[in-house]
This record gives sequence, C-alpha cells and structure tokens, in this order.
Amino acid sequence: MAVILAIESSCDETSAAVCEDGIILSNFIANQTVHEKYGGVVPELASRAHMQKIVPVVHVALKEAGKKITDADAIAFTQAPGLIGSLLVGGQFAKSLSLALNKPLIAVHHMQAHVLANLIDEPRPSFPFLCLTVSGGHTQIVLCESPVNMKVIGETIDDAAGEAFDKSAKLLGLPYPGGPLVDKYAKEGNPNRFKFPEPQIPELNFSFSGLKTSILYFLQNAGKSLQYKEEFAATKEEQEKFITDNLADICASIQHRIIMILLNKVKKAAVETGITNICLAGGVSANSGLRRAFEELGKENNWHTFIPAFQYCTDNAGMIAITGWYKYQAGDFANISVQSTARAEW
Ligand code: KG4
Ligand code: ZN
Repeated sequence: MAVILAIESSCDETSAAVCEDGIILSNFIANQTVHEKYGGVVPELASRAHMQKIVPVVHVALKEAGKKITDADAIAFTQAPGLIGSLLVGGQFAKSLSLALNKPLIAVHHMQAHVLANLIDEPRPSFPFLCLTVSGGHTQIVLCESPVNMKVIGETIDDAAGEAFDKSAKLLGLPYPGGPLVDKYAKEGNPNRFKFPEPQIPELNFSFSGLKTSILYFLQNAGKSLQYKEEFAATKEEQEKFITDNLADICASIQHRIIMILLNKVKKAAVETGITNICLAGGVSANSGLRRAFEELGKENNWHTFIPAFQYCTDNAGMIAITGWYKYQAGDFANISVQSTARAEW
C-alpha cells in the first residue's frame, strides 16, 4: 500500500494529485489566466503564479482524495523539462515536504509522464506499445517496453505540433493558446479546401516550421498562393477580410495537415516495429479531429488504440502521480540534491 502525493508545475498549470496503489484519487489543476493578454506564457509571471497557487492546490488535492498530508508515503514532482522558474517552485516545494515528512522524493520526467497517462484508467495498453506524444513543447513517437523502460524513436526537428497549432492561430489573430480555438472553428469547416504542403522528413521525425511559413504567405496574399509572390500581396484589410470570410475552412485545412503529418509517421512506426498497441498523449491529444482520425486509422489497421481521459491529456499532476507510483515500486528515489532542469534527454 502506498499513497503518492504528486506535483506538476512545468509550465502554466499548477497541479497536485493523490494516487493510492496506482488509483488516482484526485487530480486538481489550476490554470493561469495571467498570460492571456501577452499572447504566450510569460515565464516570470508563471513562476509567481505557481508560488501563489501551490499551497491551496495541494490542499484541494488532499481534501478531494480524503487524505492528510501525513498519509503520503512519497512525494513525486516534475523535475524536467519545462520553464526553469516554474519547475523550481514545484521542485523546492516537493523537497521541503519530503524533508519535513521524512518521506522519499521521486523525480519525474514530464514527457515520460505524458506517455504513462495511458496507464491511469482501463482499458490499459499492454507492453510493448507505441505512443505519439504531442504537446506544446514536444512531438515524439515513443517505444515503451515497460513503465520504466521507454525510448524516443522519432521527434520533431523544429516546432512541436502544439506550437504549430498555436502559431497558426496567432497568424489568424486568435488568442493564446490557439490550439483549442483552431479545433473549435475546424468543426464547421472543409478540411480539403486549402492544400498545405506535407514536409518530406526522413525516418520517424517531424517538422512543422515549413507549414507555419506557408500559412504566413498564404495569409499575406489572402489565399491566392502558398508561396510568396509580390503580385499577390494583399493589404491588411484584404487579409483580415479573407480570414473572417474563411476562418472555418482555413482552420479545418491547417488542422487536417497537422493531423496527416502526425498520423503518417505513426503508421510508419507501426509498420517498422510491428507493434499494434498504439497510444496518444499530450495536450494536442485533446484535439477532437486528431482523436477521431487516430481511432479511424486504428480500426483500418487493426490496432488497439488508447487515448487518456481529457483531464490527463493536458498538463496535470495525475500523470506525475502514476509515474511516481511505478518509480516507487521500482525503488527509483531521488536524492534531495536533485536539480530541476529546463531541458532533459531521456
Ligand atoms: O501537454 P500540454 O498541456 O503542455 C505542454 O507540455 O506543452 O500541451 C499544450 C498544447 C498547447 O500548444 C495547446 O494549444 C495544445 O496543447 N492543445 C490543443 C488542444 N488543446 C490543447 N491543440 C489542438 N486542439 C486542442 N483541442
Ligand atoms: Zn505537457
């Protein structure tokens, strides 16, 4: 029997969760609204917001789980990767609790936790499985042999899929984070109306920066070409009118291209590895078009597909807690001197 108290603070969500023997009892997430007016996350404001929220967030998570702080058998926290100031707030808080309660500390890699979010609820994938992890900072295909043995076999060489959504949305004049808004407008649009190019990237890697550039040119000439051509240059007013008149079709076409880039590589990975248990994870797995297309592709290819419940797709401490539980069983504890790091290979 073990109760894990977990803390996630890698970016702009302050979250705490409680897990008992692999069952998530609570997963409380406080979003930070302070960044909205800046069009992106402001690191210093994120750190300050984490400091204000972390104590009440941990209180709520314990209360919802029906546990006291002294019930915790271990404290798990996101050690990397992320915004360094944000990571430090959660890390120092976890270390202080570990010292005060005299309970072990578990350092969790955020991307590994996104993958293991698939083990939170039934049905769970059996090993080995592949996971397409798509978030605001990462796009990876991960081969998982066990909860503590996983390898990245493909990743983006430039922007992440979430960044592709957010940067496209910004070009369309939509507020940050734009991914959910592109998803919303895409529901009403025609995904085949505008044909954005698919990059030819070797092996299982991805690239999204070319897509962003073609969207920029496409908008600068009000939809007349995907390349920059002086004769098509549109005025600001013409560009805005083009966006307003065609927003749903533009969003649907951008979303369609991002989904195809992702799923074509997943298909390739499945063929190359012969693995048919395939999972989705990360914030972009909340995208309704991606979820549907992933499940359809799974049916066509006789895969077993898995997607975490909505609350475990975007950043959350539930995924840190489940990873902490597996590390607890493996006896993989961290020293109190462990450092938070903004970047970390794994
Ligand atoms: O995993 P996550 O919460 O944070 C990181 O670890 O980065 O992912 C955040 C990303 C953002 O880029 C956000 O726009 C995107 O996930 N996202 C979506 C949707 N919901 C969140 N992108 C497209 N459609 C959505 N419904
Ligand atoms: Zn994340």
